[in-house]
Amino acid sequence: MSYDEIYKAWESDPDAFWMEQAQAIDWIKSPSKALFDENAPLYEWFSDGQVNGCWNAVDRHVEAGNGDRIAIIHDSPVTNSVHKITYGELKDRVASLAGALRTKGIEKGDRVIIYMPMVPEALEAMLACARLGAIHSVVFGGFAANELAVRIDDATPKCIIAASCGIEPGRVVQYKPLLDGAFELADHKPDFCVMLQREQEVAALENGRDFDWFEFQAGVEPADCVPVEGNHPAYILYTSGTTGAPKGVVRHTGGHLVALNWSMKAIYDSDPGDVFWAASDVGWVVGHSYICYAPLIHGNTTIVFEGKPVGTPDAGTFWRVIQDHNVKCLFTAPTAFRAIKRDDPEGALIADYDISSLESLFLAGERADPDTIEWAQAKLGVPVIDHWWQTETSWAIAANPLGIEKLPVKIGSPSVSMPGYDVQILDEGGHEMPAGELGAIAVKLPLPPATLPTLWNAEDRFRKSYLNTFPGYYETGDAGYKDEDGYLYIMARTDDVINVAGHRLSTGAMEEVLASHPDVAECAVIGAADTLKGQLPMGFLCLNKGTTSDPETVVSDCVKLVRDKIGPVAAFKQAVVVERLPKTRSGKILRGIMAKIADGQDYKMPATIDDPIILDEIRVSLATLGYPKHA
Ligand code: COA
Ligand code: AMP
Repeated sequence: MSYDEIYKAWESDPDAFWMEQAQAIDWIKSPSKALFDENAPLYEWFSDGQVNGCWNAVDRHVEAGNGDRIAIIHDSPVTNSVHKITYGELKDRVASLAGALRTKGIEKGDRVIIYMPMVPEALEAMLACARLGAIHSVVFGGFAANELAVRIDDATPKCIIAASCGIEPGRVVQYKPLLDGAFELADHKPDFCVMLQREQEVAALENGRDFDWFEFQAGVEPADCVPVEGNHPAYILYTSGTTGAPKGVVRHTGGHLVALNWSMKAIYDSDPGDVFWAASDVGWVVGHSYICYAPLIHGNTTIVFEGKPVGTPDAGTFWRVIQDHNVKCLFTAPTAFRAIKRDDPEGALIADYDISSLESLFLAGERADPDTIEWAQAKLGVPVIDHWWQTETSWAIAANPLGIEKLPVKIGSPSVSMPGYDVQILDEGGHEMPAGELGAIAVKLPLPPATLPTLWNAEDRFRKSYLNTFPGYYETGDAGYKDEDGYLYIMARTDDVINVAGHRLSTGAMEEVLASHPDVAECAVIGAADTLKGQLPMGFLCLNKGTTSDPETVVSDCVKLVRDKIGPVAAFKQAVVVERLPKTRSGKILRGIMAKIADGQDYKMPATIDDPIILDEIRVSLATLGYPKHA
């Protein structure tokens, strides 16, 4: 069937469409229907089914006779090692870990925070939780203790599973001090921690609280899979919103299994046994969906890559991994390709490897710029597919579904809406805009399976953030347009979220940290365009009247403060001291215009601006940092 036919089949009978896809999942009790709309506009999928996520990702492949198939390849240029784990071994490892967690009191519904680098044990920890019906929340290793503490207080986990360290090029990141710091800062105290000791750093364990990963599994009974309801939360994943408090996106088990499994063939054209590589991190949604769950549910081999696109050891690393493991489909963020292109503009290193196994490259996480797409197309000679999605959705809202049919690629567009998503461009009043006109991108409710049913412990915030602006729609927070052929173009965020190297960050969270500096009276953070990372945060600081502190010292204090409070991943390295911030007469800071000035773009002077002269002051301050970069 063509894409049009499949999309129409979904449109005409969504329940039948999703019930058919649900047949690819092993249910303990089949759901009676797909959509549960009794609490609209809150929707759920497959709620009355009974299922287990780990069974579907691991055990069933062993039962089907595929226990010898490689499930996970850990390729780690930073430790110079490669390990392969079969589905059979994965089952034993996960059942043992789950058994040990159960012995320590972890049961269905308990929360477990996972704070680990790119090691297979991170996936095993996620799967062990799924086996028990425990709800995991993975925290990205590049976040600081304070961010970990915020998540501990919100998710109130019984247990934290961590590794002793992560490895960044040139430095070992010790996790234990971050963990201890978070314990100290958080009001909620988890019962215990499990520590995977790595040879690069052996952490001192606290008696009675911390248990060694291997020792605590010794002699325990392996755990079987615990049945959970289709609407049982599989995990909580925190993501940046407008304020400093991250949003806990909830993922229900049933829909997550069905939609992710469907996406593997339909979107990525991947068959069971094929090697699938999402070069991201388990701490992000791409890692949850396409390093861990989707490839395993679908019976693929997934690659856990512990390295960077460049510098580990060079810009040929990706090609080596593709060659060594016969990667068929690669998925990464455009920033990774920009980094490779910057180090090896001619793509000369590609010739050193046999990458003939590669059939497609998928890009997501940020806007894919035409230069990067064209470079990748020319150098790799395979389809380069931009697709658009969010932590909230866990799979593509818009894509070019290679496994259904390869639609014409339009550079600059992540192509068309996937079945399940009725994407519309709305004006401020919620009316659909004509083709070609820019508006807010919204999705008609209900969202499809695997998308967020709510925010953890924050239903009001869920409604306010996503449902209230356009009744009957989910507000994506992105702005853009559709062309005559229904192709989407994602142009900007409508909120204060920025995207740095494919990582979603909140300028509001950074502003909260800057405002805590004793000399800072007021501040603003914007995202300024960057050729490598897409955007980089930039701070504007107004100091308290009469302060005698040296402005340069305040700037460097603030840079350190953001790194310490949010983490190195914020990449907050530049700020300027200004006299005043441009505002509307009602006091709203004009961040959008400041960003346009930083990027050297034209802007419309808002009629409500309080004092236009301030924009000139901002321009002068930005010039001291070399902005705009391409003037
Ligand atoms: N643990 C600890 N620190 C981390 C970390 C982790 N897991 N991940 C990143 N950091 C640190 C980095 O070391 C860097 O620290 P520094 O300021 O001391 O240099 C900082 O956080 C910023 O990291 P990043 O923005 O990733 O920049 P980078 O210069 O290290 O690498 C790229 C740039 C483009 C190579 C890198 O961002 C990349 O590979 N991106 C791929 C995109 C991706 O995976 N996106 C996920 C969504 S698909
Ligand atoms: P995250 O939740 O971290 O996956 O970030 C989601 C946000 O990243 C989206 O709301 C977009 O702003 C941006 N984004 C993701 N994919 C794309 C894409 N293909 N094109 C443009 N922006 C994207």
